[in-house]
Amino acid sequence: MNKKKSSFSGQLGFVLAAAGSAVGVGNLWRFPYLAAKDGGGLFLVIYLALVLTFGFTLLASDIAIGRRTKESAIGAYIQMSPKWKFLGVLTFLVPVLIMTYYAVIGGWVTKYAVVYLTGQTAAAAQDNYFTSFITSPVSPVLFALLFMGVTAFIVYNGVEGGIERVSRCMMPILLVLVVVIAGYSLTLHHVDESGQMRTGMDGLLYYITPHFEGLTFSRFLQILLDAMSQLFFSLSVSMGIMITYGSYVKPEVNLNKAVNQIEIFDTGVALLAGAMIIPAVFVFSGTDGMSAGPSLMFISLPKVFAAMGKAGTFVGLLFFVTTIFATLTSCISVLESITANCMEIFHTGRKKTVLVLTVIYLAASAVIALGYSIFYVEVKLPNGSVGQLLDIMDYISNSVMMPFIALLSAFLIGWIKTPDYVIEEMESTGDTFRRKKLYRVMIRYVAPVMMFVLFLQSTGIL
Ligand code: PFF
Repeated sequence: MNKKKSSFSGQLGFVLAAAGSAVGVGNLWRFPYLAAKDGGGLFLVIYLALVLTFGFTLLASDIAIGRRTKESAIGAYIQMSPKWKFLGVLTFLVPVLIMTYYAVIGGWVTKYAVVYLTGQTAAAAQDNYFTSFITSPVSPVLFALLFMGVTAFIVYNGVEGGIERVSRCMMPILLVLVVVIAGYSLTLHHVDESGQMRTGMDGLLYYITPHFEGLTFSRFLQILLDAMSQLFFSLSVSMGIMITYGSYVKPEVNLNKAVNQIEIFDTGVALLAGAMIIPAVFVFSGTDGMSAGPSLMFISLPKVFAAMGKAGTFVGLLFFVTTIFATLTSCISVLESITANCMEIFHTGRKKTVLVLTVIYLAASAVIALGYSIFYVEVKLPNGSVGQLLDIMDYISNSVMMPFIALLSAFLIGWIKTPDYVIEEMESTGDTFRRKKLYRVMIRYVAPVMMFVLFLQSTGIL
């Protein structure tokens, strides 16, 4: 076994780094949007049920495989079964693709933090502000390169001295900021042109009340699939990242507790992000402002900040700083996973590997950032949407590869290695793995079926 020298200092360092990977734009822009779209409390209940069953199964599997094999995805799968090397390679390719665009999104977030820092609150609320920013051929590239450079610098400094140190500092601050902004959101109120008053509390109720109107079986299935794909993306599972982070966990760390804490952190921030965004949008724009993806964060929210008056500039700044922290700690986990795999494949040192990858990804980020200007394309994706370069990378990695990898790895663990492979590692410190029975059923039967359905749905077959 190839013993790694790098490791997290202990349980807290690991949990904060893993939570740093898990908490990202998925929590801040995707979760609130899905909750608003998919029946409020109904989505929340389904999501929580999935976290405790499905999410825990995938997260425990990845982390336990990492710690047991002490390798990243490719090496880990080879060690589990040499015939399954292809699955390790596929898993490695997910962060390789994600890395091409994650720093671009990080660049957008950084740009908006600068916008609020310099008090351009009214300008950012203009209808075409975001579009004219991303379609410019210079500014988005510069911000993407900056974000990529900072990410590379942290990874260059290693697991404990770089990743853990940054996560230990940023994650607690992020949590405090999310709580503060959510608290502020609940105090908001606004009277619209028709004289109707809406309060933050009304918005909170809209968020947590289960809406059953118009619920049919196919709609329920859609909500279930939305919640499942969100969970997957949100926990950073089935892309080798948690395998790499797991390989840095010391033998004495209790993985049961660590998995629970990571899940609580990730889900807690998602719930709070909903409490921060939904009431604020509801107060100023009603339910119309709850748009999907980037437009929620970069178009709807700037309008909300502008409507808040003087406080808006400060709240906007706090919000985008929070988002920078979330995006940066996720971005470093993506680069770390690629770095760790490359170090194992090419037997190179960290510094040299990071430098080479940095050159490659600075170029790739520039190309993707130019995907809205010089390299603009319109490609119809199998799920019916039309996408540019960034959406294409996102679609291939998250919608096609991730469910496919989760399906195959559930099969490998459940039926070839048997669930004991993971259970033994979870219990290696002498602690009992309390959800053992549930784990066996999930990994053998439920996860493969669910992943298969998700795969069919996201590829447009279903
Ligand atoms: N888990 C992150 C989020 O919820 O935003 C997203 C993410 C991080 C996806 C790292 C992929 C990744 F490699």
